[in-house]
Amino acid sequence: MATCIVLTLSIIWVQFVNESDTLVQEAIENVGKDLRYVDVYRTADKLSENLKYMLIWSGAENAPLSYFGTGQRRFIEKNCTNINCYVTTDRSFFNGDTTKFDAIAFDGRTIAKMMKSQLPKRRSQHQKFIYFNMESADNYPLCSAYFDDFFNWTATYRLDSDIPLPYIQIRDKNGKVVGPKKDMKWEDMGFFKDEELELLKQNKTKAVAWFVSNCETRSSREKYAFKLKNALYSFGFSVDIYGKCGPFKCPRHKENTCFSLLERDYAFYLSFENSFAEDYVTEKILTALQHKAVPIVRGGANYSRFLPPGSYFDASKLTPYVMASKIVHVMTNTKYYSEFFRWWSHYSYRDPSQSDNICAQLLVFLHTMPSPHRRHADAAQLLCRYESPEARHCAAPSPPPRAFASFPAV
Ligand SMILES: *[C@@H]1O[C@H](CO)[C@@H](O)[C@H](O)[C@H]1NC(C)=O
Ligand SMILES: *[C@@H]1O[C@H](CO)[C@@H](O)[C@H](O)[C@H]1NC(C)=O
Ligand SMILES: *[C@@H]1O[C@H](CO)[C@@H](O)[C@H](O)[C@H]1NC(C)=O
Ligand SMILES: *[C@@H]1O[C@H](CO)[C@@H](O)[C@H](O)[C@H]1NC(C)=O
Repeated sequence: MATCIVLTLSIIWVQFVNESDTLVQEAIENVGKDLRYVDVYRTADKLSENLKYMLIWSGAENAPLSYFGTGQRRFIEKNCTNINCYVTTDRSFFNGDTTKFDAIAFDGRTIAKMMKSQLPKRRSQHQKFIYFNMESADNYPLCSAYFDDFFNWTATYRLDSDIPLPYIQIRDKNGKVVGPKKDMKWEDMGFFKDEELELLKQNKTKAVAWFVSNCETRSSREKYAFKLKNALYSFGFSVDIYGKCGPFKCPRHKENTCFSLLERDYAFYLSFENSFAEDYVTEKILTALQHKAVPIVRGGANYSRFLPPGSYFDASKLTPYVMASKIVHVMTNTKYYSEFFRWWSHYSYRDPSQSDNICAQLLVFLHTMPSPHRRHADAAQLLCRYESPEARHCAAPSPPPRAFASFPAV
């Protein structure tokens, strides 16, 4: 009978995973021991001792929590080395005793609006409260005094998070993850000539594209974009704005068509963040790189932590007019364009949101991180945009950082 169940499950398993023999083997062994490795058999009374349980308290619909799914399924699907983490949104899972969870995950966007009464009433010493957020601290500051000493760990886009969840991952030639990180050292890449890229550039006759739907942002990126557009205009180029904020349309269901336009026609892409916050660098740089467009970045990050020198233009350092002249320079000299991609001979990049960010880090931390953690006391402060302790708890909108406040008119 037991063999029979194992066999049936193995077959389901093979179909489910089918990538790696070792994983299939591992899964078969585990299924033999514990039926919960398959969702169908996932019931509370069969849970094993060695699992770690994480309750998603709020915001299961927001990234990154939305990527975790429920149970262990997602960790298994993603071929994580460690899959002993069981995720649920069900607060009555342990008969309503939420102190039994090893970790409670809070989504920064929803928790920022929660009242004290909506937070867990009791907590146990062994459990970790984890703050998750992929949105900028500027848009979702967490300033209520109640959150002082509340979180044990942070899991955000910030590189100094306990569990960093960057939007982009840099690997070296051997596939080892080397960035982004705070003290990033980029190798000197020397001379590089990529004929394929140079050919591609010949068809890229348009200068800058921007896909955007949020037209009024705290970073005022739209103002920079319009000034850049005007500056380029006198050179016979433009910034083509697709989406709600410009004349070019790109309906959501036609996203891929727009992306292929970007790849075919445009040399540059505006990877402008909607707000300024440390390390806040989003998938917008991936949009550029994936379509072989040079990212023009603008945000609160130190971009050298994320991209090698010479691979992008930083709008925080150049006025729209100077930026325009640099763009024109590249547009009229094909060989400069492939220089921006020189780093691809030494490094590769990828989007970790659907893989590494789901896997290893959280689980490693759940299992091995010593506690209490050094930063448990000021985890919330890290995400607050206010510097001084007195100002921390107010919610007035902050002015843009001085460096970005104004540019000379063009
Ligand atoms: C799954 O993990 C194993 C062991 O780490 C690895 O050998 C294999 O290539 C992985 N498969 C996929 C599809 O990632
Ligand atoms: C920016 O990051 C780079 C790479 O990590 C570092 O060398 C540099 O000192 C940083 N600059 C500032 C102003 O922090
Ligand atoms: C450039 O465009 C031409 C004409 O549309 C096309 O045949 C050619 O394949 C394109 N070249 C590249 C490198 O994409
Ligand atoms: C988590 O933080 C709380 C509040 O600061 C603290 O009492 C508790 O000991 C910490 N737990 C762990 C496991 O570090």
